[in-house]
Amino acid sequence: MNLNGTARIVPVQKETQMNERDIRFPDREEVAPLGQGTWMMGEDPSRRAEEIATLRRGLDLGLTLIDTAEMYGDGASEEMVGEAIRGRREEVFLVSKAYPQNASEARLPDACRGSLKRLGTDRLDLYLLHWRGGVPLGETVIAMERLKRDGLIRSWGVSNLDTDDMEELLAADGFGWQTDQVLYNLTRRGVEWDLLPWLSSRGIPAMAYSPIEQGRLLDHPEFTLLAESLSLSPARLALAWLLERPGIIPIPKAGSVAHVEDNAGALEVRLDEETRTFLDTLFPPPTHRTALEMI
Ligand SMILES: NC(=O)c1ccc[n+]([C@@H]2O[C@H](COP(=O)([O-])OP(=O)(O)OC[C@H]3O[C@@H](n4cnc5c(N)ncnc54)[C@H](OP(=O)(O)O)[C@@H]3O)[C@@H](O)[C@H]2O)c1
Repeated sequence: MNLNGTARIVPVQKETQMNERDIRFPDREEVAPLGQGTWMMGEDPSRRAEEIATLRRGLDLGLTLIDTAEMYGDGASEEMVGEAIRGRREEVFLVSKAYPQNASEARLPDACRGSLKRLGTDRLDLYLLHWRGGVPLGETVIAMERLKRDGLIRSWGVSNLDTDDMEELLAADGFGWQTDQVLYNLTRRGVEWDLLPWLSSRGIPAMAYSPIEQGRLLDHPEFTLLAESLSLSPARLALAWLLERPGIIPIPKAGSVAHVEDNAGALEVRLDEETRTFLDTLFPPPTHRTALEMI
């Protein structure tokens, strides 16, 4: 890479590359390496048609993992996702998340049924505890395993849990969970110090939320200059960097067809060593442990 536009971006065939980069969860389920987020979607009726078209275009392009939550728009995001995947449910790896206050044995079944109803499906592929609250992790494990046994979910995991929480979960569970969904992007690299190595050493993929820092990364002057020099959009560069990291599934949210097409293009980018080094200079990796950040 240099800043005069002679970056070596290696185009690859989509078919080959999708298989090559697919991510495998511990239960051996394989998912596409790049997903679609849906926070802030489904809330504005005037944007609904475009949002549905965007998610469906994402499916066409192989972004078959869709992430939502009961929290998003108080269920409006799940309803919109339900409409978007109608008739295409079998193509989708569907992820939703439960509020921490619903993660108890008494409340999780109803929360899950509510999500299923809004999504218009009878089973989630992955159900996550959105963040840790007052319910003991051991109780959430029991509640999740029961949902799995009853066929409401195929697998479960967690979100926003730091390494010490994961140790606790491991002690409580033995190993039923599939992932930890965490804040991870070029500007939020703290997880590289201990959480990601902890997960990776156990073969657990991490889902990277806010992979383009909710759009803020797109305003970073040196980063956008670098992207321009590589003939990439800043969003595509941010995602390409994450996609090269083993076991990471970025879930960018795109509100337009143009944006989801741009994001899907990240699957076809290979960065060279010089670019990676330059990105490490702009956004240095951590040199000590920090508490897990959340948005
Ligand atoms: N587990 C958790 O606690 C948690 C927390 C936060 C997020 N999440 C999940 O992670 C998903 C992604 O995170 P996020 O929504 O916070 O942020 P993000 O994906 O980093 O950024 C979304 C923003 O980037 C813009 N954008 C997307 N693609 C673009 C492109 N190609 N060019 C220019 N702008 C582009 C979007 O604008 P447009 O809308 O105009 O396309 C939107 O403003 C969420 O939607 C949600 O599913 C989970």
